[in-house]
Amino acid sequence: MRIVQITDLHVGREGEETYGVDVRANFLNILQAAQKWQPQYLVLSGDLCYRSGETGIYTWIRQQLDEQGIPYEVLSGNHDDPAMMAKAFGRESLLKNGELYYAREWNGRKVIFLDTTTGMVSGQQQGWLREQLQHMEHEAMIFMHHPPLMAGVPFMDSRHALRNRGEVQAILLAHPFNVHVFSGHYHVEKAVRKQNILVHITPSCFFQIGQVSEQFQVDHYRIALRDINWDNGVMMNAVHYLNGEVQH
Ligand SMILES: [Fe+2]
Repeated sequence: MRIVQITDLHVGREGEETYGVDVRANFLNILQAAQKWQPQYLVLSGDLCYRSGETGIYTWIRQQLDEQGIPYEVLSGNHDDPAMMAKAFGRESLLKNGELYYAREWNGRKVIFLDTTTGMVSGQQQGWLREQLQHMEHEAMIFMHHPPLMAGVPFMDSRHALRNRGEVQAILLAHPFNVHVFSGHYHVEKAVRKQNILVHITPSCFFQIGQVSEQFQVDHYRIALRDINWDNGVMMNAVHYLNGEVQH
């Protein structure tokens, strides 16, 4: 099963200034690059919108995705509105108490999608996640916008980390198999591990953030996708970069 993950698009309103980055062109370029990997599924792992959820932005993104003809999933990040997103993508039936978390059965394997819009995994969602993992007799695959582990990126770890990560880690550590988590949010490429929890942080389609500084710093403007291949109990994945469309 081949999946391409794309994250942190930060698409603005038409014509909106977004730090000199043409975020719409970046998204179109990354979608075109994704085709090369012939994925069975695409996952957009949150922060689809520049600042906050907007129906017009979601509708434009949906149009671009629908044209690809590849099945896709969307999840909500801290710059999204899950209810608005679910409506724009015709997925209102997946909403639970205003949150957009759900599971899919792909090639006989359950894949889990969480909602961390608030910077937390809600109590109700934690209960649901525990249930999902309970009868899973193999390694798990989870997509969530916020990484559930600290990542050694001082600016993001100190200001924007998942707030109740300890609770989420406890659930994942209890799974008797590996748990592969695919995240975004940090605008870096990073792999972090704690026992059976393996977190893969995928770079943004906007810009990347410096991994050393305590202060906000742009590292570079290349954009990326993650190609994930999961077959016969082997999980392979790699990040591939493109040049971003930037005016400075
Ligand atoms: Fe984010």
